Amino acid sequence: MKIGVIGLGYVGLPLAVEFLEAGHEVVGVDVDQRRVQAIAEGVSDIEDIPSERLRAVLDRFTASTRYADLANVEAAIMAVPTPLSRNREPDLGPLVSAGRSLAEVLRRGQLVVLESTTYPGTTRERLVPLLEESGLAAGVDFNVAYSPERVDPGRTDYTLRNTPKVVGGLTGACLERALEVYGEVCDQLVPVSTPDAAEMAKLLENIFRSVNIALVNELAMLADRMGMDIWEVVDAAATKPFGFMRFDPGPGMGGHCLPVDPFYLTWRAREFDMPTEFIELAGEVNQAMPYFCVEKIAGALNEHAKAVRGSKVLIIGVSYKPGVGDLRESPALKMIRLLRDRGAEISYSDPYVAELAEHDLVSRPLEPELEACDCAVIVTHHPGLDFDKVLATAPLVVDFRGVTRGKTAPNLVRL
Ligand SMILES: NC(=O)c1ccc[n+]([C@@H]2O[C@H](COP(=O)([O-])OP(=O)(O)OC[C@H]3O[C@@H](n4cnc5c(N)ncnc54)[C@H](O)[C@@H]3O)[C@@H](O)[C@H]2O)c1
Repeated sequence: MKIGVIGLGYVGLPLAVEFLEAGHEVVGVDVDQRRVQAIAEGVSDIEDIPSERLRAVLDRFTASTRYADLANVEAAIMAVPTPLSRNREPDLGPLVSAGRSLAEVLRRGQLVVLESTTYPGTTRERLVPLLEESGLAAGVDFNVAYSPERVDPGRTDYTLRNTPKVVGGLTGACLERALEVYGEVCDQLVPVSTPDAAEMAKLLENIFRSVNIALVNELAMLADRMGMDIWEVVDAAATKPFGFMRFDPGPGMGGHCLPVDPFYLTWRAREFDMPTEFIELAGEVNQAMPYFCVEKIAGALNEHAKAVRGSKVLIIGVSYKPGVGDLRESPALKMIRLLRDRGAEISYSDPYVAELAEHDLVSRPLEPELEACDCAVIVTHHPGLDFDKVLATAPLVVDFRGVTRGKTAPNLVRL
């Protein structure tokens, strides 16, 4: 088959590579000229796709900025961003723009699948009318489906191949066609009755995580006030073999998905006169975590007779989660801003993030920084970091990830 992938980011590039590795041809379209150029040269900036893996399939991969190159594909899969606007409402700008451009080249018999996370109704109410500007009728002249991406960047045990894939078609025939296409790269397919059901399923998955992370974060703040160790409590509760699912507290939620997607549903729910209180509350608790963490750092410095102002604070790990360099919505960025507002001198060390241009910082080698700082803050526990050494070297360590759990030391403070 010849497959089109629109948007070659964290979702689109791995998807393209899976189809290529399954023996198909792929045309990838992205508006980012630099990204297209890099991919065409076999250079990947997505951790899950090392450049060697991309180069091994490059002969069947056309990366382009031109939608016209999609004219001959059998299926076009859209993986463009779905962010929030400044006033935290769905920003369908990239989706609308991609839909319009695709409509200009759409051909009879093609399948269009949306993978971007969005509110229920987007495929039917927003995407289909755009595609029909082509003069072709959805469900008659071309097929339309929605299938949410479930990729967890940095994860190797569950991939596109062995993660069940939910698919909802506009019509029965649309669903059948989408199942055929995804059957080439996924072992287990989960058909649902409509695109709306598939859109809502994805939001349920993300909201479930957001709410549970907020719950354990709230308990972490309470445990802190009660002088209890939240990590010991979570470890103990997690031994229950049924009816409990483990979530760890931390400095706050990051990434493109969890801080953003739930609010797509909140926005949609307003149309149905229904406030989504769990979603709002989880958002509030998770957004408050960086503020709580900064207070914790200030308290730790105070115990060591130091003020935040003028103290050298080393942030260990600035991406939003271990093993990736993704900075989107990372709580570390908010903490850096808050600490700087209070006069701290910030440095950071992160093997996955070479620079923070907007903060005018570059990643420093860990060891000299540990010796030079007043306080080392463990924000993201990247694999391979030696936290025993951190504890042995830094004058003061604040651990927001529980990597020092079970340990006590005069220079250690833990969430
Ligand atoms: N990253 C994840 O872990 C993840 C997981 C599941 C679902 N999702 C969802 O998948 C979607 C894509 O996310 P991502 O993380 O891959 O984003 P990304 O920013 O990494 O990649 C999106 C790409 O789309 C391109 N793009 C933007 N507008 C375009 C247009 N009009 N035409 C063509 N290309 C365009 C961008 O240049 C970028 O390269 C989002 O809806 C997101 O919520 C992401």
